[in-house]
Amino acid sequence: MVRLLSLEVSNFKRLNLQRPLELGEGITLIAGQNESGKSTILDAILFALFARTIRPGGRPRDEDILQYGTNKLILSLSFMVEDRRFVVERRIYRTKPNEATLNERLPNGSLRTIATKVNSVTDEIANLLGGLTFDEIVGSNVVAQKELNKIVEQRRADRIGVINAFLNLESFNQAVGKLADEKRAIEGTPSTPGTLPVAREKLEDLCKQLEEWKDKEKELQKTQTSLTDLSKKTEETKREYKNKHELLAKLETYQKELTRKNQIASDVKNKTDLLRGVKKQIEDLESKQKESSSIKDELKKYEGIDQLPAAMDRLNASAQEFQNKQLQLQTSEKSAPVSVAGLQRTYQEIQTHPGVVGIQQAQRIRQNARTIMIASALLTLAGGALGVLMAWYFFALVVVGIIGLMYSTRQSGRASALAAQHSDYVARVRSYEDQRNISADFENRLSALRTQVFEARQELVQVVNGVSRYQELVRGSVQDPIQIAHDIKKKFDEEMSQRQVLSTKIEQLYSDLKKRPYLENQEKTISGAIKELQGQHDAIILPELPERITYSDTLLAQTRTEDQSLRDAIVKNDANIKNLRDNAGKLTKYIEEKKDLPHQTEAQEKNVQGLEKKLRVVNDARTGLDKTSESLRTRVKPSVEYYMSIFLPSVTMNRYKAVKLDDDYKLSVWDAEAGEYRPREVFSGGTEDQLLLVMRLAFALALTPEARGTRPEFLFLDEPLGSSDEVRRGEIIQLLKTELAQYFKQILLVSHVEGLEQDVDHIVRLENGRVVEEV
Ligand SMILES: Nc1ncnc2c1ncn2[C@@H]1O[C@H](COP(=O)(O)OP(=O)(O)OP(=O)(O)O)[C@@H](O)[C@H]1O
Ligand SMILES: [Mg+2]
Repeated sequence: MVRLLSLEVSNFKRLNLQRPLELGEGITLIAGQNESGKSTILDAILFALFARTIRPGGRPRDEDILQYGTNKLILSLSFMVEDRRFVVERRIYRTKPNEATLNERLPNGSLRTIATKVNSVTDEIANLLGGLTFDEIVGSNVVAQKELNKIVEQRRADRIGVINAFLNLESFNQAVGKLADEKRAIEGTPSTPGTLPVAREKLEDLCKQLEEWKDKEKELQKTQTSLTDLSKKTEETKREYKNKHELLAKLETYQKELTRKNQIASDVKNKTDLLRGVKKQIEDLESKQKESSSIKDELKKYEGIDQLPAAMDRLNASAQEFQNKQLQLQTSEKSAPVSVAGLQRTYQEIQTHPGVVGIQQAQRIRQNARTIMIASALLTLAGGALGVLMAWYFFALVVVGIIGLMYSTRQSGRASALAAQHSDYVARVRSYEDQRNISADFENRLSALRTQVFEARQELVQVVNGVSRYQELVRGSVQDPIQIAHDIKKKFDEEMSQRQVLSTKIEQLYSDLKKRPYLENQEKTISGAIKELQGQHDAIILPELPERITYSDTLLAQTRTEDQSLRDAIVKNDANIKNLRDNAGKLTKYIEEKKDLPHQTEAQEKNVQGLEKKLRVVNDARTGLDKTSESLRTRVKPSVEYYMSIFLPSVTMNRYKAVKLDDDYKLSVWDAEAGEYRPREVFSGGTEDQLLLVMRLAFALALTPEARGTRPEFLFLDEPLGSSDEVRRGEIIQLLKTELAQYFKQILLVSHVEGLEQDVDHIVRLENGRVVEEV
């Protein structure tokens, strides 16, 4: 049994109660104009209990319920559960966190705090109400404004929840909830992993680890075997290396000594060769001595030749001079300016030249001609003058004059020709004389040259004869002095060069002979050195080599290579052994650390099997519970139909009586006029609202006899009468007062319809969020 006692409100939406509103038994009419705050009273009660409202639906935001322009909302509801009294207070702040407290008012009047946090207060109240949720209350105890059809339109699962609650099947609900929780906990949800998948995952991981662990165990065994094998092999290699290295050391010493010995032997050989050479040189000195004597004798032949170069120079100069003069003469002879024959021809020509008659004759002729010409001219002139006077007598004079003139002209021409011929003659004579002079001159020079040539030859012959050393080349008479000069010169050059060769040779021999003391000294030194080296050579004793080993460079090289490769093998093996040891260490550590894995895996396997079994049990239990509650619920339907058939005739003035509900609580009503059950939707809007109201009320009543414990005794009806006429309204009120009042001790009827005051127990009239009348 849950009963509401009083409500205090400050700034909840528009609602502001000046003093606590007492909520008594019976029907309380909450009246007032539109927007006066009537529905807000229901929301205030629901918010105090569940922290939720009908408007806005669900969990409202602080600013939705905090009165506009205010910063603080206070809501306090006193209520009774069985015979215990409680006070819930919620404070909403605009700027700081909300607060809530739930206290129990003890019989002595003092308060006992139950919860002081917003969430824990809500949870505690839900517990006090026997697990009833907000949705369940709204579905059963609240007929909200415009939400009459809520019960029929509820989701099936929610409706089952409501029905379960009223059948006192909360334990079913709780069990189903718990099983669902368990199932969820085992199977998990998209956001939270379940214990079974986690356990399976863990098992999978453990199996993998176990597999790995077993592999590692095998690997460790393999590693240890490899380690033993490799260690043995390395020991053998080390022994082999020791022997090889000792042999190498011996061979290297042997090689060193042998090299030294060979080096000394080679030095001895070189020195012996050298000594032989020195001895040979000393021997050669004897023959060189003889040779030098014979060359010395030979050189005597060339004594006095040193005085000859000056004579040779003279000979050269003289021969050159002679040749030059000869050449000059030959050249001059070839270049004679006038030939003798030409000169004679010219001479004959001028002897027979016509101009030879002379110039006097020509002058004489010209004188005579001039005289004749003057006389003729005078005669002609006289003849001409006399002729004008005396006619033809004197004409003869003119003719004679003209003839005289002609003659004189001819004679004058002849004189000119003679003069020209003479001039030519004179020119030719002059030319001849010139040529003759030139020729004479040339002849003079030629003869001078011939004299010079002769003198040069004489000179040359004299010089040639002066060279007494080569007189045999002159051969008695000097025919061709140039040839002789040439032969002498040639002979001289030959002798000079022979003497030069001999001189060089003898100088070389003298120089060689001078080396004798040095060579003898060297011979001594080298002999000493050879002796000493021989001693050193014999003193070197080659080390003894192991049996059947004969030294060779190839053997040494091969031993070196083998020594190196053995050393490399040892280093490599040591590194491998270290790696294997490290690996074995790591594997042993890992195996030791995880030695519990087989046990853990086995335990986890059992754990998974246990969880799987548990899940099966949960599923089976849930199916069983669902079936049981279902069968219990089906028992309710006939009661609902029963109550409806009682309420409906009174509300509809006997017009409708029988009703039918299918498994989904779909409502059909017997329409006598139609002669059949008709679905509620086909009836008039007002009748449909009345059908639904009746069904809601019947539903609650059908469940009530079954109800136990903390069933809420209050019923909220927000504007249930709006669509009913006055007659039916009266019937509904009667129904509330009679039938329903037996089960709901507190009925809060919200209505703006006037004229109900005489039918209700209390009146609360609101205006603008404030109580203006309270009866
Ligand atoms: N946070 C708020 N602060 C102030 N006023 C609010 C707030 N939220 C809602 N209101 C107003 O409160 C008024 C009361 O609404 P309510 O639903 O209680 O009216 P009503 O009396 O039930 O009216 P009706 O008869 O029309 O159903 C409305 O005018 C609404 O606009
Ligand atoms: Mg309202």
